[in-house]
Amino acid sequence: MAQPDRSLWLKGPGNICKCKPSTKEFHPWRLVLLGPPGVGKGTQAAMLSEKLGACHLSTGDIFRMAKTISPDQRSKALQEAITYMDKGLLVPDTIVIALVKERSDCLKCECGFILDGFPRTIEQAQALQSFLDELNVQLDGVVNYQMDIEKIIARLSGRRVCINCKSVYHIVTMPTKVEGICDKCGGQLVLRDDDKPEAIRVRMETYNRETAPLIDFYKNSGLLLNVDANGTPQEVLERTLRGLQMLKA
Ligand code: AP5
Repeated sequence: MAQPDRSLWLKGPGNICKCKPSTKEFHPWRLVLLGPPGVGKGTQAAMLSEKLGACHLSTGDIFRMAKTISPDQRSKALQEAITYMDKGLLVPDTIVIALVKERSDCLKCECGFILDGFPRTIEQAQALQSFLDELNVQLDGVVNYQMDIEKIIARLSGRRVCINCKSVYHIVTMPTKVEGICDKCGGQLVLRDDDKPEAIRVRMETYNRETAPLIDFYKNSGLLLNVDANGTPQEVLERTLRGLQMLKA
């Protein structure tokens, strides 16, 4: 099977993803990942993408990608988004929904998708539902990762991200072979601006106020799968895959 190509999602419309299932038996998984900042959604999305063949679509990655282009080449909406993000605040719904809408080709991909960080408000969840209805596509599950807040803060403060390929590490639980250098591309590792203590506090408050209500929203649709996010990434992945099989059955 051709591998899913995230470049269409990250760069925006104009690139064509060539992902095609090679067998008729292939089941395209269409998932949403929920959970507080730092619980491990991005880590699991990357592993699930490899295992299930579905594309990892992160709204946070779109904004981080925008930070790598020079400010005079950013659209006004992206510039505004970056200002919100660095403070740990949610980017306004109008901006996020417009960015997802212009990338909605990714939602009808035959290989499926794993949405990481979208939706994050009830308004975004309603917008996603209307995009999917228009495309005649249905969600298979909404995975809600759960963990105590103290452990999440430890994950966030130790996280390091490659400025080049965006790979994610942790100084204790997922260290690189050479300190400060990405194993995959040799790029420099940095602390994200929104992983500084003040921004972490704001992000947690924002999550409780704006995003946690989505748990009830999806519970009512029968799609919700709660997954304990404690343990190694591999253990969490296996727990998720078992849960997804049960949800499918
Ligand atoms: P986004 O990029 O979506 O960030 P987030 O939801 O805050 O989630 P994180 O990326 O911080 O954490 P994660 O759960 O992915 O954890 P990770 O796998 O990295 O959004 C960033 C910002 O963009 C938002 O604050 C907002 O401003 C804006 N934004 C994005 N989408 C938006 C939207 N829809 N609406 C409005 N605004 C939006 O893991 C964390 C660390 O733990 C890593 O170091 C990792 O190596 C480590 N780790 C992971 N799993 C394990 C494990 N099992 N054991 C040990 N260590 C682990």
